[in-house]
Amino acid sequence: MYRYPRPPSSEITPRPIFEQRRSLMKGLTAATALGGLGLSPALASREIINIIETDYGDALTPTPLEAIRGYSNFYEFGTAKEDPRQHAHQLQTDPWSVSVEGLVDTPKTFAVEDLLSRFQLQERVYRLRCVEAWSMVIPWIGFELRELLKAVQPSAEARFVVFETLHDPEQMPGQNNDLLDWPYREGLRLDEAMHPLTIMAVGLYDQTLPKENGAPIRLVVPWKYGFKSIKSVVRIRLQKEQPTSSWQAIRPEEYGFYANVNPDVKHPRWHQATERRVGESGRRKTLMFNGYESEVAELYKGMDLEKHF
Ligand code: MTE
Repeated sequence: MYRYPRPPSSEITPRPIFEQRRSLMKGLTAATALGGLGLSPALASREIINIIETDYGDALTPTPLEAIRGYSNFYEFGTAKEDPRQHAHQLQTDPWSVSVEGLVDTPKTFAVEDLLSRFQLQERVYRLRCVEAWSMVIPWIGFELRELLKAVQPSAEARFVVFETLHDPEQMPGQNNDLLDWPYREGLRLDEAMHPLTIMAVGLYDQTLPKENGAPIRLVVPWKYGFKSIKSVVRIRLQKEQPTSSWQAIRPEEYGFYANVNPDVKHPRWHQATERRVGESGRRKTLMFNGYESEVAELYKGMDLEKHF
């Protein structure tokens, strides 16, 4: 059985809030049946059947939903933190499909509804640490990426996984500027992608994933800086060569391929030893691998983390 690390006591959620949240999650089935919550039909029916509560991050205090939705980075809709909330409604998320291709035995294009019915949805409460030195705690609903990858059977030569966001400048007006070489692209090593903490999120709190947070489906890799957690994914490709991510392509000295949260590795623009948790005053110490060290340090054994930043 996979064990979740105990968070430091400063992050333990006060009991009443914890219980309130739990009862909210438990109340979901009934509330969904009443149609009271903003769930898409696919996620709503899934919710009733099959979202399991896990112990992942149980003791963390989730950032309020309004802050998660209102303070975000999604450059396809503008560069200000409130732009995605204002503009992402333009994105058509239904129908949506994700192709999984490249070095796999059975490449396949999945409709999002198929992913929801095929893989076990779980609640995962994770810290999210942006490279800009702010952080949040987000109660995601998602499934383990490794389940999807196993379904297409990676071939023996596959070593890396590349992810791409939708490329459609009409729906995503930010793609009309040359800030990045669109579409937004990210990559993981195959063993990172297969790690049980790596999920594809389709919801947060009690909701279908809001568009500003990367609907209908996005990657979440909690021990890496937030920019690795690519939103609104349409393509996943397995390959032999290490890919170059979009940020790495334009500023390799700032955005490494690994981008593991690390308070000891300096960044030219942001001090990485501490962070501001959205909604809190003061600063917290940034944790090695964002607090997931006991689970993921093994992946980087023998690597120079300063060099492979
Ligand atoms: N994915 C795409 N396609 N476009 C983006 O601009 N921003 C990244 C990441 N994924 C981004 C993206 C950054 S910098 C962060 S910190 C997280 O999304 C923010 O996720 P959130 O807005 O859901 O908190």
